[in-house]
Amino acid sequence: MRFGHFDDEKREYVIETPKTPYPWINYLGSESFFGLVSNTAGGYCFYRDARYRRLTRYRYNNVPVDEGGRYFYIKDGDDTWTPSWRPMKKELERYECRHGMGYTKISSARGGVGVETLMFVPVGHNCEVHQVTVTNEGQAAKTVKLFSFVEFCLWNALDDMTNFQQNFNTGEVEIEGSTIYHVTEYRERRDHYAFYHVNAPLAGFDTDRHSFLGLYNGFGEAQVPLSGEPRNSRASGWHPIASHCLDVALAPGESKTFVFVLGYVENPREEKFSAPGVANKTRAKALIDAFSTPAQVEEALGKLRATWDALLGKLTIKSGDEKLDRMVNIWNQYQCMVTFNMSRSASYFESGIGRGMGFRDSNQDLLGFVHMVPERARERIIDIASTQFEDGSAYHQYQPLTKRGNNDIGSGFNDDPLWLILGVGAYIRETGDIGILDEQVPFDNDPNNTATLLEHLKRSFDHVPNNLGPNGLPLIGRADWNDCLNLNCFSETPDESFQTTGNKVGRTAESTFIAGLFLLAGKEYVALLEKLGRNGEAEQASGLLTKMAAVMEDKGWDGEWFLRAYDFFGEPIGSNRCEEGKIFIEPQGMCVMGGIGVESGKAKLALDSVKKHLDSKYGIVLLQPAYTTYHVKLGEISSYPPGYKENAGIFCHNNPWVVIAETELGRADRAWEYYTKIAPAYLEDISDVHRMEPYVYAQMIAGKDAVNHGEAKNSWLTGTAAYNYVAVTQHILGIRAELDGLRVKPCLPKHIGEVSVKRVLRGVTFDITIKNRGTGSHKLTADGQPVDGVVVPYPATGKTVRVVCEC
Ligand code: BGC
Ligand code: NOJ
Repeated sequence: MRFGHFDDEKREYVIETPKTPYPWINYLGSESFFGLVSNTAGGYCFYRDARYRRLTRYRYNNVPVDEGGRYFYIKDGDDTWTPSWRPMKKELERYECRHGMGYTKISSARGGVGVETLMFVPVGHNCEVHQVTVTNEGQAAKTVKLFSFVEFCLWNALDDMTNFQQNFNTGEVEIEGSTIYHVTEYRERRDHYAFYHVNAPLAGFDTDRHSFLGLYNGFGEAQVPLSGEPRNSRASGWHPIASHCLDVALAPGESKTFVFVLGYVENPREEKFSAPGVANKTRAKALIDAFSTPAQVEEALGKLRATWDALLGKLTIKSGDEKLDRMVNIWNQYQCMVTFNMSRSASYFESGIGRGMGFRDSNQDLLGFVHMVPERARERIIDIASTQFEDGSAYHQYQPLTKRGNNDIGSGFNDDPLWLILGVGAYIRETGDIGILDEQVPFDNDPNNTATLLEHLKRSFDHVPNNLGPNGLPLIGRADWNDCLNLNCFSETPDESFQTTGNKVGRTAESTFIAGLFLLAGKEYVALLEKLGRNGEAEQASGLLTKMAAVMEDKGWDGEWFLRAYDFFGEPIGSNRCEEGKIFIEPQGMCVMGGIGVESGKAKLALDSVKKHLDSKYGIVLLQPAYTTYHVKLGEISSYPPGYKENAGIFCHNNPWVVIAETELGRADRAWEYYTKIAPAYLEDISDVHRMEPYVYAQMIAGKDAVNHGEAKNSWLTGTAAYNYVAVTQHILGIRAELDGLRVKPCLPKHIGEVSVKRVLRGVTFDITIKNRGTGSHKLTADGQPVDGVVVPYPATGKTVRVVCEC
């Protein structure tokens, strides 16, 4: 069942009912000011950090779901309703929500009144603009009252939900004209405040939540809009809100447009006050002036659109498959940008309080956004590498505000260092900026202890051979990509973190996944060394890769697939000899990506085993059989009920590894089948089962052992976005930036005949035509001349290269 449709022309998903199976959200903002908004106007906004600078309050895990947002109420005679359906849930005669690139528009009508609300964060400004147009669609003149409503969060989102003895006393506002200022704690150490403004004179206002709602009422029973009488309340302690009341008189057919601005201002300390105790409003007024007319809003929206045109213009395709086109051209890239902005901080599943930036996550995200914002990718790389330790290991997370490693989580996830090589490699292949390797980068953020970025990569690489276990395979440490395979944890105590507890100390537990990743990242490292002319080092590194591949084919092989690990006691995991967890997905995908077993035929056997044991109707599950009981020697993976998360869920992040592996073997149809099983646009028709947004990936879909097989969770902030983008663009479409040229090596299913691709990088536009005839081989021409192999060299001069690939 569908709940909307794609409007590809406008790059929007159009939701046709407010009653989606879960709140379907969008993100506003791409620089410093961000908002999350659902299709019923729920959500919140923040400046830079969702924990420490949260502007508006939101209730996670509440009943009903999605409580708190930017709400407007219409009082039309005896009828009071909310145009976003929630919170009043009055029947609407018309409803539509359009989530676009950085904006959301909700339109609805009731009783002859139409309301359209457009919400976005303008480029270069720290605010949300809410433009509300009210139309009299009836035959008679009428006057309605329009109420706005936001509830302020007292800045620190965690404190806001826990420290009530203090924060029920601190709330403060100032009211000036049509602007309500939220100045809680401005009197002391905060140099920032928020405001909510409307470009029209007020019939009244409210700033105290109890006065607006009534103490025992929810947002849907707010007494001020129900009565139509604003109370001009002034918040003092308790819960500051901002609500404007406007009288809107409309002739038949007439529309009136109001511009609301929800803004954030920081003042230099010496300019904090305009008079004792009065906040200096100069900067707020400048922001208000920038958006005081619909024409200004229109212009800002145009700028936002142009920004997205540029971001999404680096790789576009026309394939004849509209779902593929919309994933590649629009939504997969959009989600990659959101993961760049948010990391794993704020979604409807990540509360914006808990997690920093992951070392592994951030490097992987980079693979999906480097082509859109290469300069920002460069900065991100330096930030990440600066947290690395001298021995090559890494803090698992770092804090976005301080950019320092997070001591609470610490280090010891032994795959982490390798992802840095992949991130840096992707950046250099995209930009040609090999000079980044000469940058001096600190260890553990110590400016007195630095080395070149190349040296950081060397330490990342060497960290693997320096930490081998009894079988010659990489030691797993706390965990590898699978944060839940905790082989040294042995936790018997609830409340202990599986990720940071190590109740047994040993150097036995080994990971075949890291071995595969070592091959994949190692090849990238060797290519960089060769490019730098460091042939001796390249050869040495290559030797270690060859050795690791040989160890894998011997000790890492179970007969029909790659083993997953050796545990603390040296027993195999992911082996036919195990009772549960006989086969895991990760090493099958990653080892083949690293090239292990391709020649010996083990790669093919491993992938055939994936098909046989792990494939399901809704995607490839992580392992089989699922763990049915808690295994203390395995950790968190066995804590989940069968079919969920790492315990045999369909982890959408590792499915593309198998897709890529299948393309390595040239098996286009199978790669395609796996790709389309989890790509959201292809799941639109089963939105009732899948439940998450059909325009973005979710981290997990419940596996075949789960009660709710096919139901997804944790949409938006997941490495799934980047890796699926890599899989579809670089391996299915086969367009991949290499150090010396653009590789064009598609592996497309039979039904896709001809694809045109535009790829812009390094100042060059590649106009590519793929003629897919299923030959399995690739014949390329560039500007009419035959190309030797599948890499079209970057032109020395010239801005456009026309490439034809027959395959
Ligand atoms: C989740 C993992 C996640 C980890 C992060 C676990 O509870 O299952 O998916 O990577 O937490 O700390
Ligand atoms: C989510 C984490 O963000 C990611 O780093 C990890 O690899 C997966 N979960 C699998 O555990």
